[in-house]
Amino acid sequence: MTNILLVTSSPRGEDSYSTQVARRFAVKLQDALPGSSLTTRDVNADPLPHLSEALVHAIRKPADNRTAEDLAALRHSDNLIAELQSADAVIIASGMINFGIPSALKSWVDHIARSGVTFQYGPDGVEGLLKGKKLYLVLAYGAVYAEGPWQAMDFQAPYLKSTLGFLGLTDVEVVTIEGVAYGPEMAEKAVAAADERIEALTAALRS
Ligand SMILES: Cc1cc2nc3c(=O)[nH]c(=O)nc-3n(C[C@H](O)[C@H](O)[C@H](O)COP(=O)(O)O)c2cc1C
Repeated sequence: MTNILLVTSSPRGEDSYSTQVARRFAVKLQDALPGSSLTTRDVNADPLPHLSEALVHAIRKPADNRTAEDLAALRHSDNLIAELQSADAVIIASGMINFGIPSALKSWVDHIARSGVTFQYGPDGVEGLLKGKKLYLVLAYGAVYAEGPWQAMDFQAPYLKSTLGFLGLTDVEVVTIEGVAYGPEMAEKAVAAADERIEALTAALRS
């Protein structure tokens, strides 16, 4: 069975393009993979705490020495990592905020990146431990970053690809919805292009 995990993060609620496209994508993926399950997590609607002193302290402690307080501080991190570990396909929806990812999604990253659990240092350097999963990034942008003068200001796609790749999620496809701030016509075109792309990605799985 394939477990699909859908993580949405927009602070724009039902208006969010990344959420809308990613939800449609999850439905199509489920349809293309009979018997698959879908778990959803909205990190904006159900926000995670920022990293705290207690959490950093607990993360750094050897597992055998952890107190009840440490385990309580690790609760969110443990749950989120378990959710990721059991997923075969992960869809992450993110819309650019101030040139990067929404802060709610950054908090999620801060909870899932854990030395010894999702990555480790070995004789050959760093090894990501979330291997063998397919990652789909559904990314919305107000402006256009694929080419032109704004390209260097895209700290969304490179950040997510690098950080999640570091954790072992290296098999990645990116679906972009660009230029939505340039008016309704441009936004409509961007969404249509993204829908075409998710259709192509799911059709490839069916064949
Ligand atoms: C607070 C805020 C900051 C934003 N900052 C940027 C930005 O730096 N660059 C950009 O291209 N678009 C920016 N936008 C536009 C969003 O990227 C655009 O609305 C996108 O659709 C957001 O994703 P969503 O539709 O999934 O919420 C910003 C929007 C908001 C609400």
